[in-house]
Amino acid sequence: MRVLAIETSCDETALALVNFSCGEEGCDIAIEAEEVASQVALHRPYGGVVPNVAKREHERNLPVLFERISGRAGFDPRSVDTVAVTVGPGLDPALWAGITFAEELHRKRFPHARLVGANHLEGHLYSFLLSDSLKGTKLPLTGDWDLVPFKNVFPAVHLLVSGGHTMLVLMRGVKERTVLGETRDDAVGEAFDKVARLLGLPYPGGPEIERLASAYRKPPSISFPEPMAHSGDYDFSYSGLKTAVRYYLRGHPGADVSEIAHAFQEAAFAPLVLKAKRALEEYGAASLMLSGGVAANHALQETLKELCSDECRFFVAPLRYNTDNATMITIAAYVNRMGYELRSQPNLSL
Ligand code: KG4
Ligand code: ZN
Repeated sequence: MRVLAIETSCDETALALVNFSCGEEGCDIAIEAEEVASQVALHRPYGGVVPNVAKREHERNLPVLFERISGRAGFDPRSVDTVAVTVGPGLDPALWAGITFAEELHRKRFPHARLVGANHLEGHLYSFLLSDSLKGTKLPLTGDWDLVPFKNVFPAVHLLVSGGHTMLVLMRGVKERTVLGETRDDAVGEAFDKVARLLGLPYPGGPEIERLASAYRKPPSISFPEPMAHSGDYDFSYSGLKTAVRYYLRGHPGADVSEIAHAFQEAAFAPLVLKAKRALEEYGAASLMLSGGVAANHALQETLKELCSDECRFFVAPLRYNTDNATMITIAAYVNRMGYELRSQPNLSL
């Protein structure tokens, strides 16, 4: 099964061509082409993503990225049997840009292929299949995921943390999942972006705050409240933490920005770590998985790895598969063959 996937849910335009090459034992993920055009620089002056600007830029980027993929030596349109496009969740105009392009591409270039909608969150969730420690693991040929020989992987506790989502998911198998909790207001990545803005740092805030936080080496004198860390459920909340930073800045105009970044990052990650730990214990999980843009954060990766220690396996995909990409969308389309309806679904969930 060769899948061409299109991802335009936010501010990355991405295309990928992946061949799930199958033998008797199962299927290997063979990544043939990956293209990502980031719009970060374009949105930076606005301090966040502007939906209609994103849409226009996706419309400009998509044909260019497709030409790069289809212009590769040996590319045969007839070998593509599935075209997948992210239908949600995401920004409505941005999603439509991808869907419209996919429909046109399907009509003109791949009329023989199936055209299916994909769930962006399933893309993040299944990105653990791209982690180095699972390289060589065969995927099932038939779509019968109950038979998959993933030893010591499930049940898994999965922390999906991005600019739009903060979710703790229990996976009893690849396709069997329960959302244990999620954010009641802002997502953790969104909090990084908003706090970065308060600190006068450019968008996106995550990498900027991580850089400053890791450079801070003195004993910290600020501690922000760790939102809902001890709430007894698996939910999260980040709008109060952002407000706490705003008030702190008002009261301490000359404060050290690195120290604030450090204290904020500690407070933002504490509830994620505590609740992941509790879920691992409660469900006797064999592994802990991390995905989404915030998974790019080294401090978070290290803390979760330590949390697992010898007790569980820790999975995180390489950096380029944590932030938005289309390779994870090919996998979502492979795992979920049924696909989603081809219309923009900005609030689609897991
Ligand atoms: O998954 P993603 O690329 O897009 C969404 O689906 O939302 O995630 C983007 C988010 C942004 O909020 C960005 O600030 C955050 O991921 N992010 C980080 C880091 N790199 C990106 N947050 C913390 N530390 C990082 N190193
Ligand atoms: Zn994402």
